[in-house]
Amino acid sequence: MSDSNDKLEEAMRNPQNLGEMDGADAVGTVGSPDCGDMLRMWVKFKEENGKQVIDKATFQSFGCQTAIAVASVATEMIKGKTVTEALAMDSTTLSEPLGPLPPMKIHCGQLVESALKDALSEDKAPAAATESQGPMAPSLIDAIPQSNPSKGKVKIVPIEG
Ligand code: FES
Repeated sequence: MSDSNDKLEEAMRNPQNLGEMDGADAVGTVGSPDCGDMLRMWVKFKEENGKQVIDKATFQSFGCQTAIAVASVATEMIKGKTVTEALAMDSTTLSEPLGPLPPMKIHCGQLVESALKDALSEDKAPAAATESQGPMAPSLIDAIPQSNPSKGKVKIVPIEG
């Protein structure tokens, strides 16, 4: 039992894959209704033997240490998995290397599972991430100049016949 405590503490002290990822293919964000903590996960894919698999994943957690520990081991475990394989992993599987979580920390593992599922949801993975962090394009209405002639800002160019 102290063995799994050690693993949990080690993962808290030295989390893997912590931080934003530049050029991620998908991003998932969730907040826990139980405690208000938030977790964001970035996923990048690569092609392997004709299949899209997870190349790497990183995360950021605003809050609890247990979620950080689970996200640390989960982001390691999902490397090389297809979207379908990763989606089949629940919070128990994703936190397995840490041993069973204490009952009041079960939702911390579920937060990690939800962030992963959000990142891998159909509208985000595997291709949807092009320019996801880019500046918002102005809406069409913003692009149309205010054409109030009384302001004199719009130059009306007569069409030459
Ligand atoms: Fe809420 Fe851990 S206490 S995610």
